[in-house]
Amino acid sequence: MKEKRTGFATRLGAIAATVGSAVGLGNIWRFPYQAGENGGGAYILVYLICVILLGIPIMMSEFIIGRSTHKNMKGAVQQLTPGSPFKFFAYIGVLGALLICGYYSVVCGWVIEYLWNSADGSLLGHTPEQYSDMFGSLVGTPQRCVLWTLLFLLLNFLVLSRGIQKGVERIANIMMPLLFVLLIVFCVNSLLLPGSMKGMDFLFNPKFENLGWKGVVDAMGQAFMSLSLGVTCLITYSSYFNDDSRLMKDAVTISALDTLVALLAGIVIFPAVFSFGMDPKAGPDLIFNTLPTIFQQMPGGTIWAVLFFVLLFFASITSTISLSEIPITFLIDEYKLSRTKALIITAVLMAVVAVLSALSFSTLSDVTLFGKNIFDFLDYVGPNIFMLLGGLVTAIYVGWFLKKEIIHNQLTNGGKYRSSFVQPYIIFCLRFIAPVAIIIIFMYYTGIF
Ligand code: TRP
Repeated sequence: MKEKRTGFATRLGAIAATVGSAVGLGNIWRFPYQAGENGGGAYILVYLICVILLGIPIMMSEFIIGRSTHKNMKGAVQQLTPGSPFKFFAYIGVLGALLICGYYSVVCGWVIEYLWNSADGSLLGHTPEQYSDMFGSLVGTPQRCVLWTLLFLLLNFLVLSRGIQKGVERIANIMMPLLFVLLIVFCVNSLLLPGSMKGMDFLFNPKFENLGWKGVVDAMGQAFMSLSLGVTCLITYSSYFNDDSRLMKDAVTISALDTLVALLAGIVIFPAVFSFGMDPKAGPDLIFNTLPTIFQQMPGGTIWAVLFFVLLFFASITSTISLSEIPITFLIDEYKLSRTKALIITAVLMAVVAVLSALSFSTLSDVTLFGKNIFDFLDYVGPNIFMLLGGLVTAIYVGWFLKKEIIHNQLTNGGKYRSSFVQPYIIFCLRFIAPVAIIIIFMYYTGIF
């Protein structure tokens, strides 16, 4: 039986849920370690340029597709441009979402273990080397990783089974502002550490010799990851938007908040990394080694640690919910499944990917794809291939194939607001800048330069 679609209750709720999707481990876990690996300031500059030239226009184009039709990518393309082959891209979005959510939930599992250890008091009171060992022992123990990951997925699907409106919309409304306040407290604390300015210099002083093409690719992939672009997530969410949402304003607000959270996370991490003499290039372990060191020199460290991991947990679950919603909405719309059936199928598929990724550092560490273990492989292909490819397809579709009237109508809510320079700006970015930039990146993969 097909259940009737209900949209987000309010415009603010839709914004909160979309910010909830955007703000997640991408900002707090991935952005700092990527910045650390790619030389800091120069990476951040490229990241900001990517948000302005690619991120915001592509976000608006996903909104246009979703809100104009109230359908998932496949149904939307069929309605907007009947017979267009762009509809097949919906499958890539669904596959991308399954793979990304699969590895992402492993990190969410680590967050639960850190939350657990903070609460029982065993997390704090160690040296930086011991933190690094603790993290190594967690990822190297298959049972712990699998258990936490599956527990996380269970919670994720429990919330989803209650529908988005009451659960997620409400949680996002409370948790997102709290996370923000807490990050600011941690920023102040980090900035007061001795030698903190070295961290700020690393973060904001662009040294292009440390960037290279790999850094540019990573920054672009990260912008897509952080803004939830390219795998039809925002098409899915905006299909639940009401007609009073203001797509231009909302896209800019969401992107600005998301970027601010990533920068704040950097300002929490790097001053501490330099102050305690840790390694900025530590990779995916970076925040798991750094944060405990920061908490333990704050008065009432245990409480801060618990609070932080609780909020990180909520930031993550609002992101995985949006990722899971892609296959769920697709199955409901296209195969007329009930929400429960769609949910179970999605959950099983995600659990398989998640368990394989959770075992990447232990039982399956010998299994490599292109020289990376399963987890690292997914962490690479998710943002750097699926999202970029999806972004390219979306940009070309809206830039070249969608009627200007539809774009105009959506951006201005049927002429109610002015779009002034925004419409020509995003069409230019979608037609020329995004395709050229993304194609250059794909040429880089093939080794042309
Ligand atoms: N944006 C989220 C983060 O930064 C991750 C995420 C949620 C995502 N939904 C997405 C990434 C859809 C790509 C596509 O943590």
